[in-house]
Amino acid sequence: MRFLLFFLLILSFLWQACQQDGVAALAEWRKRYAPLPQRLLVPTGRDTSITCQNGTILHFCKNTFLTSAGSVALDVQEVTNRAEMVALRLNTQMSSGLILESEGMLNIQPVDAAGLRINPDCPIRVEFPARGVPGYPWLFEGQDSSGVLRWENPQRLDQDSLIRGVEKGKRLFCWYCAACHSQNLDEALTGPALGNIQQYRELDWLVRFTKNSSRMIAAGDPLAVALWNRYKPVIMPDAEFLSNEDVQSIYRWIAEESKRQGAKNQPPDQTSTARDSINALKVVQNTLMCLQYYKFPYTTFQWRNIDVFVDNYPEVGLQVQVQNASEFEELNVVLVYETRKLVIDLSPSGRSNFTLHPYPQARLPQEPVLLMAFGVKGRQLFSTELHTRISAENNFVLTLKPEKQEAIDALFEFLKPPPGPGRNGCNMNTETR
Ligand code: HEC
Repeated sequence: MRFLLFFLLILSFLWQACQQDGVAALAEWRKRYAPLPQRLLVPTGRDTSITCQNGTILHFCKNTFLTSAGSVALDVQEVTNRAEMVALRLNTQMSSGLILESEGMLNIQPVDAAGLRINPDCPIRVEFPARGVPGYPWLFEGQDSSGVLRWENPQRLDQDSLIRGVEKGKRLFCWYCAACHSQNLDEALTGPALGNIQQYRELDWLVRFTKNSSRMIAAGDPLAVALWNRYKPVIMPDAEFLSNEDVQSIYRWIAEESKRQGAKNQPPDQTSTARDSINALKVVQNTLMCLQYYKFPYTTFQWRNIDVFVDNYPEVGLQVQVQNASEFEELNVVLVYETRKLVIDLSPSGRSNFTLHPYPQARLPQEPVLLMAFGVKGRQLFSTELHTRISAENNFVLTLKPEKQEAIDALFEFLKPPPGPGRNGCNMNTETR
């Protein structure tokens, strides 16, 4: 009898050890994709500015921290991509259920200084790089809602810092054109140099070409066809979502900037089909030059998130059933949009179902998504993914399978780059560490 008890004890001990192995493996793997906390040592008693790994600039004044210590240690996390969001179990949804699309998130936490406060008269001033989320961004604060961080207290961001500082034409050029056309306007990158372009192209032609060059090539416009022959196979993306006024503002900026820089660009030799070579490094520098910042004061040690509201879609329901859900620990079902920085951590509802928080319906864009689920059974990590689409009705069934690390790695690599073609083009390359 004693022996049996002993045996059972050992068994339960082993079982627990196994469980912990799986849980630890999950935590370990989440850590690999979470952004590294950056440890900063901020001197007190003098003004200091620090640029973090992903370009966020933090300004401290001499009495930002009311402490007698000579310096303050802070851990900073900048979240710029969806892999990091999923790894940290961050989402882009308000506590009220409203759906958001994120530019990026920021968290600053003091290290070993529990009572440390930020002086409200001289808070940390944050300059957060704009990566080009379309629309008007707001600043949100993170609140823990039963173990998942959700967003509250939206505040209109100081748009002036982003828009007034830079005229609209430049901003649009940065967001939609600088991935391919040089900002110095003289160099050919993926697309031709655009300096002095109005000296050799009609504005009307430029506007039509910018909005829909593929239609002009198909219709046989001689100039469009000649350019295509020289630059193919790269197709310039259509920009029909821009108004004529928007496109004209881009060309106004190009004309002024050409004058300011003394651009030497001449009309290209129309008969030549020699392709200009692409210099990848220059493309990176070009996009970096475009970086603009959102500015806001950081007053409490709490997550911040810069988002636009995604609210002009009809409400749809969503139900995800996970087979044998009760067998898994740490079960986590996540919905990620393929072309947006939009991540939703689904909430359990009942034994094996997951749904939206806090209601089973929300204004979800009806677009391609990736549904992912992770869980632990014993030592083994389980996961699954489903590439699908949100439509008027959404009932999905997921079956988790034991997963090799490589498969999960591949999934996370997929989530790393900024989503969507033609979006976030400007700062495309600033997102990799
Ligand atoms: C994905 C790369 C890419 C992006 C983004 C892009 N272009 Fe282009 N652009 C090209 C290529 C390549 C060509 C050469 C023609 C072709 O292949 O269709 C071109 C050609 C042009 C031309 C014709 C130049 C000439 O000599 O007549 C203009 C004007 C132009 N682009 C403006 C823009 C503007 C404005 C934007 C932003 C709204 C933009 N492009 C975005 C790749 C791009």
